[in-house]
Amino acid sequence: MDVRFAKETELERVNELRKQVNDLHVAGRPDIFKPGFSEELANHVYTIFSDPDQKIVICERDGVLCGFAVLHHIHKPENPFMYERDFLDIDEFCVDEAYRRTGVATELIAFIRSHAKTQGYDRIELNMWEFNSGALAFYEAVGFTTYRRYMEMRI
Ligand SMILES: CC(C)(COP(=O)(O)OP(=O)(O)OC[C@H]1O[C@@H](n2cnc3c(N)ncnc32)[C@H](O)[C@@H]1OP(=O)(O)O)[C@@H](O)C(=O)NCCC(=O)NCCS
Repeated sequence: MDVRFAKETELERVNELRKQVNDLHVAGRPDIFKPGFSEELANHVYTIFSDPDQKIVICERDGVLCGFAVLHHIHKPENPFMYERDFLDIDEFCVDEAYRRTGVATELIAFIRSHAKTQGYDRIELNMWEFNSGALAFYEAVGFTTYRRYMEMRI
């Protein structure tokens, strides 16, 4: 298994996985997510790729790109409530359906942790949708804990 940063030529394949995530989000919250995979959503991968604050990590197994993550460097300046914060946010994360439960995502997280440590970060953060119980089980299995919640009341 090879985990590394993506090449531009691999972004179309990354988009196939991004579509899997979007479909999952549409199924879970059709009131929030737009169905399909618009040209705008597809092209956004090139914006991510060329942004110096973002990086795309991929996992390749037997020549197949089977998982990816988008890393985003976030800097929050100090404000009257909070100290300055600087952390690595995992913005998007997916393993191809055909490769799930074979340790791909665990390898991606190991790479991301090691990269974050090398870059001097002391925290990795992410947010996820409550309906996505599989993702929650995975994130908890690799050591993430919940430190903040979004709540809602349907009217
Ligand atoms: C969540 C996701 C990334 C996990 O990827 P994966 O490569 O299958 O995960 P791993 O094989 O490394 O799993 C490691 C451990 O996490 C836990 N785990 C992973 N997926 C799980 C699931 N669906 N249900 C329960 N536990 C799960 C298990 O403990 C697993 O170990 P085991 O297989 O020995 O029991 C993958 O299911 C996925 O891409 N889902 C769709 C997209 C998504 O939800 N992305 C994240 C939110 S944007």
